[in-house]
Amino acid sequence: MRVVRLLGIGIGILLAGAATTRGQAQDDASATFAQKCAMCHGKAGAGDGPAAVALTPKPPNFADPKVQAAVTDEALAAAITNGKGSMPAYKEQLTPQAIKAMVAYLRTLAPSDTKR
Ligand code: HEC
Repeated sequence: MRVVRLLGIGIGILLAGAATTRGQAQDDASATFAQKCAMCHGKAGAGDGPAAVALTPKPPNFADPKVQAAVTDEALAAAITNGKGSMPAYKEQLTPQAIKAMVAYLRTLAPSDTKR
């Protein structure tokens, strides 16, 4: 009985793992951003969420290519992991993989020269 249950859990984990392809990770990051980050960072990441009014310094404008160019992936991941200024840490809520996917998602928010 116990073995059967463990097997079920194992298969569940396998299936969950298989669903986490690259595209899926990006979709998840987009949904997480809308849910947990947009209130401060704005829906499009421009730093203009409704809660940003009360914050000093303001959240950065991720839609600005200059802002994106000035910060490394490592610094973005560190801010999400440990928090920065008035932003809370997300290491209890997001896995290292989810944070990596979030950094990749943030990178899509600014138009790059190659895309335009
Ligand atoms: C309570 C409002 C708030 C929430 C919620 C929030 N942030 Fe922030 N975030 C900020 C502020 C304010 C800053 C700027 C902090 C500073 O420079 O002192 C910031 C900075 C950052 C930075 C660093 C940017 C840089 O150039 O160093 C990243 C990356 C980031 N946020 C991502 C996120 C992500 C991803 C989420 C959701 C999982 C999130 N934030 C949720 C307010 C918030």
